[in-house]
Order: sequence, then C-alpha cells, then structure tokens
Amino acid sequence: MTITLKSKTILITGATSGIGKETAIGLAELGATIVFTARDKQKAKSTKKEIIEKTGNKNIDHIECDLSSFASIRNFCKEYKSRYKKLHILINNAGVWNFKRKQSIDGIENTFHVNYLAPFLMTNLLLDTIKKSAPARIINVSSGLHRGTINFDDIEFKKSFSSMKAYSQSKLALILFTRRLAKKLEGTKVTVNSVHPGFIATDLGRDAGQITNKFFRLFGKSPKKGAETSIYLASSPEVETVTGEYFVNKKMTQSSKKSYDMDLAKRLWSVSKKYTGINKR
Ligand SMILES: NC(=O)c1ccc[n+]([C@@H]2O[C@H](COP(=O)([O-])OP(=O)(O)OC[C@H]3O[C@@H](n4cnc5c(N)ncnc54)[C@H](OP(=O)(O)O)[C@@H]3O)[C@@H](O)[C@H]2O)c1
Repeated sequence: MTITLKSKTILITGATSGIGKETAIGLAELGATIVFTARDKQKAKSTKKEIIEKTGNKNIDHIECDLSSFASIRNFCKEYKSRYKKLHILINNAGVWNFKRKQSIDGIENTFHVNYLAPFLMTNLLLDTIKKSAPARIINVSSGLHRGTINFDDIEFKKSFSSMKAYSQSKLALILFTRRLAKKLEGTKVTVNSVHPGFIATDLGRDAGQITNKFFRLFGKSPKKGAETSIYLASSPEVETVTGEYFVNKKMTQSSKKSYDMDLAKRLWSVSKKYTGINKR
C-alpha cells in the first residue's frame, strides 16, 4: 500500500540535524506539510533548503524556538497557531546529552528542561489544536537508556551531577509522560507513543569531547536508520489506534519496569505542572 501524508501537517522539534532532519526528509517525501523548530536562523534556512532539494516538497516551514526557555516555547506555540489551524502529528524529537551540568535559560538543569519539560509544555499547549485535528498522533523520542528512576529528592541533580543519570531520567520521564497522556487522551482519537531510535551516529555527543563524539560516529547507525521508527509511527496505518506504547525497530517493545509505574507518572505530572506553570489536571 502506498502511504501518502499529503493532507497532514507535521511538527518536528530539532530537525536541524541528526535523526530529526532525516525524519523531516522521510515525512516530506510522503507529501506532508512539515514545520520544524529551530533556534539558529542560518541552520533553519539551510535545513529548509536541503529538505526541499532532497524531496521536491515545498511545504516546509520553520519557526524559531529555544526549547531551554519556557517563554520561547510559549511564543512558538502562539506563532504556530497563528500560521496553522491543524496539527496531525507532533514529533518531540529534540534532545541533548550534557556531559557537564548546565542550566537552561530559565535556570533549570538543561537535560531535564530540554529533553522532558519542553515536550511536556509544548504538547500541552498544542493539545487543543491536536485534538481538533484528530485522528492525530504524538511521538516522543526517548532512548533505550531510560533506565533508573525519577530522582524526586534532587530532580535537577544539584547535589551531585551525573550526565548518564540526568539523561536516563529525562528519557524515563518522557515514557512516563507518554503513558499518562495516553490515559488522559482515551476516546479522543489522539495517540501518543514513545521511541528508541537505536544507537545513531549524530551530534548528540557533541559536548562530550572528541573521543565520545568519535565513538558515536564510528559505531552508530545512520541518522536515516534512526528516523525509521519515528516515520513508521507517524505514517503507518498499522499503528493508527495503538497508544501509550514504546517502540524499537518499528516494533512494540517492553520498556523498563519503572516506566509502567503509574503512581510515578502521576507524581511526575504534578511536578511538571509546577515547573511549567500549566493548569491541566
Ligand atoms: N543518537 C543516538 O544514538 C540516540 C539514541 C537514543 C535517543 N536519541 C534521541 O534522539 C533525539 C535526536 O537526537 P540526535 O541523535 O539526532 O542528536 P542531534 O543530531 O544532536 O540533534 C538534536 C536536535 O535537537 C536540537 N536541540 C537541542 N537543544 C535545543 C534547544 N535548546 N532548543 C531547540 N532545539 C534544540 C538541536 O538543534 P541545534 O541544531 O540548534 O543544535 C538538533 O536539531 C534526541 O532526543 C536524542 O536524545 C538519540
């Protein structure tokens, strides 16, 4: 069966490099209107040009957004809603792996902010538009490294920072968010699933020093391969009604035991509301 996404509007965060860019190219090839976030104007322009050249699809747009600022996310959502009435597929792809503790523009530990609080806020702010566009899909790019727990006593690792623990926590948080949101969206024809893209040769290890960066480059699979599961979840009729699940290599897969703990998910939701200032239940 030939899949076409000609009538669909898709928003992808972090499409200026790596997996996000290949996801945008793959979905543009299927005819969708692609909107992507970018924090750097030059990178945004060259990414748009590259997607159009590679796919022949001219319906490519970008809107400025720095995911480490809640104000920037709020401005982005306002701008998105002024330009587009529909949002059929939201792909929360952008992410960082900070090897040293860094604070976001809002002064929050940056991994927690960009990888988790940003998609939490953006999704909630766009939910009215997504619901109006149903059937619709939300895809959260997590990681196979989502192990461990949510460190509620020191969620921003102020006392002692571990880059691995901060990254794992942010990715576990994204899966817990996925499962709780799926419950809240029952009956709306909006699905939400999470993804592990594989070990992929991208810029994710950019601030880890040359050795780690080289390790990613030498042993990782191609970004095109890394985009496959997100593209599958965005486009395949097979998963139209599947929700609250975790996918690896285009297959529904068990995630960690903790990621099924709905009490943890509920507590995290309430902490996230306080951080982001949203009023949803
Ligand atoms: N690569 C892997 O092996 C792997 C494995 C598991 C999961 N993942 C996940 O896959 C996703 C994509 O990562 P990738 O590997 O493709 O890495 P990447 O090449 O470094 O791409 C990350 C994207 O996120 C954007 N981004 C980062 N911080 C941002 C901010 N504050 N505001 C706005 N955009 C921001 C980057 O924008 P700029 O271009 O402006 O920097 C870039 O477009 C991430 O969520 C990552 O955790 C990757």
